[in-house]
Order: sequence, then C-alpha cells, then structure tokens
Amino acid sequence: MSATEVLRRVPLFNDLGEADLARFAEVAREREYPKNSVILFEDDPGDALYIVSSGQVKVVLIGEDGREVILSVLSDGDFFGEMALIDDEPRSASARARSDSRVFPIDEARFQSLVRDTPFFALQMMKTLARRLRNMDARIGAPSKVKKKT
Ligand code: CMP
Repeated sequence: MSATEVLRRVPLFNDLGEADLARFAEVAREREYPKNSVILFEDDPGDALYIVSSGQVKVVLIGEDGREVILSVLSDGDFFGEMALIDDEPRSASARARSDSRVFPIDEARFQSLVRDTPFFALQMMKTLARRLRNMDARIGAPSKVKKKT
C-alpha cells in the first residue's frame, strides 16, 4: 500500500485534502520495527509522534521490579508519542512493537503546523486523549468496564 493510501485511512487525517495528504506522504518515511523492539523509551525527550501503519504497538511502563505494565495496545490508524510534543515533558511511557510493525513519524514542526492549520486534526487528537483518560478512569474505578480499544 502506498503512503497516501495508508494515511488516507488514518482518522486524524480525515479532513486533510488530497493535495495536503499527498504532500505529507511524499516526505513521510515509514519505519519498520521488528517484534519486541522499542520504538520510544519512557523519560526520553520527544521530537516526533508516530502513526501505526501496520502491526501492533504496546504502550508500557516498566515497574521498579522490572515488570511490564501494559497501558494500551495500538494498531493501524492509531497514534502515540503526542504527549511529549504537547506538554514539552519527557516521554510518559515506552512503546514497544508487539508484532512486526510499521510506523510513520510526524516530526514536531509538522505536528505544530497540523495543529495550527487543521482544526479537525486538533479536535480528533483531543477526542482520543479524552477516550484514553476515560479508559484509565474506568480501569482505576472498575476494571471490568474497561474498553478494549484505547
Ligand atoms: P509520549 O508521552 O510522548 O510517549 C509515550 C506515549 O504513550 C504517550 O506520548 C502516549 O501517546 C502514549 N500513552 C501514554 N499513556 C497512555 C495511556 N494511558 N493510554 C494510551 N496511550 C498512552
């Protein structure tokens, strides 16, 4: 599948015109991560967010005893790595490929211009953040109610 085809299916980009999408796809360089490899590390500085184009990516925290706590499992069309760009803090968690995965990085400058120029993009991102917060609330309050998709 071409980069444009992959990106057209991403909810964050639903409102982007064909020309903008094609321009973006032209510079987007897909990266491949084999199963179990780390895509980003908790506490590192963040300079990009990532869109999953194939495979599964898990968002994890490593406890003091070395145990991995899975916060979320993401698949194609989902994004991660936005938090460090939004609040200018280090990465809040690590992201690791749960299966062989491909992702599209969006660098910070492009992220800023997408937020500034495409209200739909910012709104979609806020919706996802709200959903993730709800899922965490549910997990803390009533684990049996947790929705699968975050
Ligand atoms: P960032 O903090 O930049 O890097 C780690 C990423 O993991 C973070 O951005 C989010 O994209 C993602 N993340 C952190 N916590 C959660 C969560 N509770 N649910 C889903 N994704 C999360």
